[in-house]
Amino acid sequence: MADPAAVPVLTIDGPSGSGKGTISRLVAERLGWRLLDSGALYRAVGYAAGEEGIDLSDAEAVTRCARTVKIRFQPSADGGETRVLVNGHDATDELRTETAGAAASAIAVIPSVREALVDLQHAFRKAPGLVADGRDMGTVIFPDAAHKFFLTASAAERAKRRYKQLKDKGLSVTLATLQREIEARDERDASRPVAPLKPAEGAVVIDTTGMPIDEVVAKVFAVVRP
Ligand code: C5P
Repeated sequence: MADPAAVPVLTIDGPSGSGKGTISRLVAERLGWRLLDSGALYRAVGYAAGEEGIDLSDAEAVTRCARTVKIRFQPSADGGETRVLVNGHDATDELRTETAGAAASAIAVIPSVREALVDLQHAFRKAPGLVADGRDMGTVIFPDAAHKFFLTASAAERAKRRYKQLKDKGLSVTLATLQREIEARDERDASRPVAPLKPAEGAVVIDTTGMPIDEVVAKVFAVVRP
């Protein structure tokens, strides 16, 4: 079997609404590499725990849930959005809500939950390469990645982007509430003691405020050169 450490990894970390999800998908498509949406794993654990009636502050019970939950990414038949199956149930729609984001952020502070997801994340590292999207991809999960990026944007712009994303998907939200929720989530992600949100050493930091998507992709490929 090929040595996973020999498989190239490109990490894209950053706060919510920084554009990392879209950019990671486009970069992975262009390189023909696999994509790891690590946020979806935390969202899935938060969701599964909620479904089981587990109190999200009960570290032991949430950890048990993280160790046993079955998460499967299923490319959609019509080339559309990848579906996420949680314990066999298509939870894609539930996972994209800000409630799921807040639940993910709440359980993501538990060190044993993070540990429970490490092997699962490493298993995505397969030839010809991996683009890993998250908060700690370059700092903790793939510290040996060949290329590391950290995307940021102003809080107001990140809230506006998330607002548009959620609206486009038919979810009802208000911009002011969303901005408050996003700021609370980012504050928790950045201040937690384990794997806090921060640029990895040597990461290329791109402020995407006011920048069109293709310009951000171009900045990534100015560094990577396929
Ligand atoms: O990226 P996304 O918004 O889907 O992530 C949801 C939450 O999951 C984040 O706010 C963060 O708390 C957590 N997360 C994490 N580490 C990652 C990815 C996501 O702690 N690598």
